Amino acid sequence: MSVRLAPSVLAADFTALGACVAAAERGGADMIHVDVMDGHFVPNLSVGPQVVKAVARAAKVPVDVHLMIQDPDRFVPAFAEAGASLISVHVEVLPHLHRTIAFIKSLGLKAGVVLNPSTPVGCLEEVATDVDFVLLMTVNPGFGGQTFIPRSASKIRAMRSLLDEAGNPVPIEVDGGIDEHTVGRVVAAGADWLVAGTSVFGSDDAEAATRRLRALAVAAAQERLASARGAR
Ligand code: DX5
Ligand code: ZN
Repeated sequence: MSVRLAPSVLAADFTALGACVAAAERGGADMIHVDVMDGHFVPNLSVGPQVVKAVARAAKVPVDVHLMIQDPDRFVPAFAEAGASLISVHVEVLPHLHRTIAFIKSLGLKAGVVLNPSTPVGCLEEVATDVDFVLLMTVNPGFGGQTFIPRSASKIRAMRSLLDEAGNPVPIEVDGGIDEHTVGRVVAAGADWLVAGTSVFGSDDAEAATRRLRALAVAAAQERLASARGAR
């Protein structure tokens, strides 16, 4: 499974969003992550479809929209229209998760399901064959710049097993506190897609930070592959 680095514009300079996206892309960003917060599901507000539209216009790579909102069903079409290629929704707010996943896919987008740190891996059992990717929060959602929760590593391993056993070995994305110190750990545990906000856009040079982080992720993925082969 190929590694993807998805810089989150939550930590970008919004007066220079296009330039921030371009710098991340020069550094090898594989996707651009946009965090949407509604002040209800999470205790913070961020951006809506208009900003996604601007990012999608600036980006050459796919736009990955993470909906931290109470009523995603209501807004999915607007984000699809705005140019999202992937949309992820939180399991904690969706009583009809199966229907929402099917709805996102019906619009021609990749559908992801997000789990908060306290949400058990097992809640995905019945939809494990339906998702295009799983996003595991490695901090409590709502704010950038938080510290990675160490227990996430074993959760990534458990999710990897659940998806593999279900016969749907889709990518696992991780989000929160991913930097040069944590990236190797999460990739070794089985993460494939890495969201990084502060460690990319909070640095002086987003291009160099993206390149460095991505190189670390690729190296860890190669090591993971080698040790899996060795174990066989
Ligand atoms: C947190 C968001 C993250 C955030 C990550 O609620 O979902 O995508 O931007 O930020 P860092 O990388 O700063 O932890
Ligand atoms: Zn996010």
